[in-house]
Amino acid sequence: MAKEPELRNLDWQTFQEMSTSEKGEYFTVNDKPHHVLNAQQFTRPQLDRLCELATKTRTISKTREGALFIQDLLCEKRAMLYFSQPSSRTFLSFYAACQIVGLKPAEVRDTSTSSELKGESPEDSVRTFSSYFDVIIMRHPKGGFADRIAWMLSQTERAIPVINAGSGKDQHPTQALLDIYTLHRSFDQAGGIENRDIAFVGDLARGRTVRSLAQLLTLYPGGKQYFVAPDSLQIGDDILNILDQAGVEHEVTGDFKSTIPKVDAVYMTRIQDEWDKAHESKDIDTSGFKFTAAHLDLLRDDAIIMHPLPRRDEIAPDVDKDPRAMYWRQVRNGMWVRAALLLSIFERDRDIDAYFDSLQ
Ligand code: NCD
Repeated sequence: MAKEPELRNLDWQTFQEMSTSEKGEYFTVNDKPHHVLNAQQFTRPQLDRLCELATKTRTISKTREGALFIQDLLCEKRAMLYFSQPSSRTFLSFYAACQIVGLKPAEVRDTSTSSELKGESPEDSVRTFSSYFDVIIMRHPKGGFADRIAWMLSQTERAIPVINAGSGKDQHPTQALLDIYTLHRSFDQAGGIENRDIAFVGDLARGRTVRSLAQLLTLYPGGKQYFVAPDSLQIGDDILNILDQAGVEHEVTGDFKSTIPKVDAVYMTRIQDEWDKAHESKDIDTSGFKFTAAHLDLLRDDAIIMHPLPRRDEIAPDVDKDPRAMYWRQVRNGMWVRAALLLSIFERDRDIDAYFDSLQ
């Protein structure tokens, strides 16, 4: 096997100028993700493996003996959850994932209680964390910040893994992983994710989950992607170019109702008005981009409704009880695939295989 290129051999300028997909191979060790910084870094075999590992992990965890076995796998390690942007779901999902695999979690969520208030740079703060912890899981409002941290640590003696738990408007790779895992579980018995059509609905201009998932889905050929939004919230050309390069069929439309019957999955998102500078989103008419109980009749029987959450009013609560509403299961899938990711990063995945095989 060819030796994988190492991040520490790159200078910042060279690394920064690379395309997102070029960077990916620098985040990999032994064919497994080491850093998790963008969605494009994943290969199809890695995604298949993480889905398999997540399912094995949740199966083993059903018994007390199995749960204790998994908690022992990373009991010597500690995780730093550094979230300088609001989060409860992703934060707790990682927190619970750490508990499943025995990683001891610690957190910094409010930089006003840290030395950053004394003028310390976030880079120095993270370097300090790296002295105490074995992995940094971080969310930051600035796109590319997690890349910077991973590179910075690669130049030190403690080049610990960095996981991006959401960076600016750009990337949310582990949300894309849990979305893939949800699609995998939903369609596994019916031919898998390939050739599945998906509609992304809502704020596609600023929703990082859509950007990450749209790119990951290029690894599953045959499906068409619909982008359903008011003009001013439509998906960026950069994503459409990536789809073109990958040969993925796509359609940009404002017609939600006629798109619903065409697809296998409807991926709803909220309006991301925390990025508004002058409350401009409140003037956009989003009324035609909400999933109500009346839309359920338009949806195919075997299709699913997804949402990264939190939701506002883009999915009516009376849709929740429909068996095709997948968003609450999506949340649980997230915890298991993040547990699988942590096991894989620390190369304890073979232990899961061995234990799982012993149950058969
Ligand atoms: C998403 C995010 O933070 O980008 N939430 C999440 O992590 N599940 C979506 C959102 O905030 O709308």
